[in-house]
Amino acid sequence: MINIAVFASGKGSNAKALFSKARDLENLKISLLVTDQKDAGVIQWATENGLQVAIIEKRNHSKKEHEDLILKMLTEHQIDWILLAGYMRLLSSQFIDKFHDQKLERSRIINIHPSLLPEFKGLEAYERAYESSQDYSGISVHFVDAGMDTGPIITQERFDKSPADTLDEFKSRGLALEHKLYPQVLEKLNQYIAKNDIRTLYAF
Ligand code: GRF
Repeated sequence: MINIAVFASGKGSNAKALFSKARDLENLKISLLVTDQKDAGVIQWATENGLQVAIIEKRNHSKKEHEDLILKMLTEHQIDWILLAGYMRLLSSQFIDKFHDQKLERSRIINIHPSLLPEFKGLEAYERAYESSQDYSGISVHFVDAGMDTGPIITQERFDKSPADTLDEFKSRGLALEHKLYPQVLEKLNQYIAKNDIRTLYAF
């Protein structure tokens, strides 16, 4: 059984999708929600559902101090893996190194990004994809490295953009795909824990 922490800064629709999927999986447990925003919409939902929530604001801490506070909390909860779900901070390489898995040759940190990486890395990916001339966009789930949305991709899926779409319609089509794809990755992670074979993580 592995312990997972989900990191979220906002509404937490992906965090919710992950939590409900995790209930059906026998080899892993989401035991902590970490947020850097005391007003994050996801906090109320998590508390109502009996989940442990750690609100760790950056405020006047340096990046290192802030990350050290988070690491201390992760150690207390014996966290093995981290799933970033709309966590709006770039983790330092020192932080990521603490979750380096020698056998995987990757970090035990996964992120979801709303574009077909390497397109539209960074902030406002939906907005930039919407404004582009492309008639499609996509969602990527990837391992985290020290770059901005640059780590090895686990899975990607495309969705269509129609000329009639408003930005909201375009985003909600993408979010629906996020809510399908991230729980699928969690399921693969569950199989990986059982089989200890990295190929299970990529078998989509
Ligand atoms: C999602 O679009 C995710 O891909 C991006 O931030 C957004 C978070 O949405 N990294 P939510 O908080 O999970 O609803």
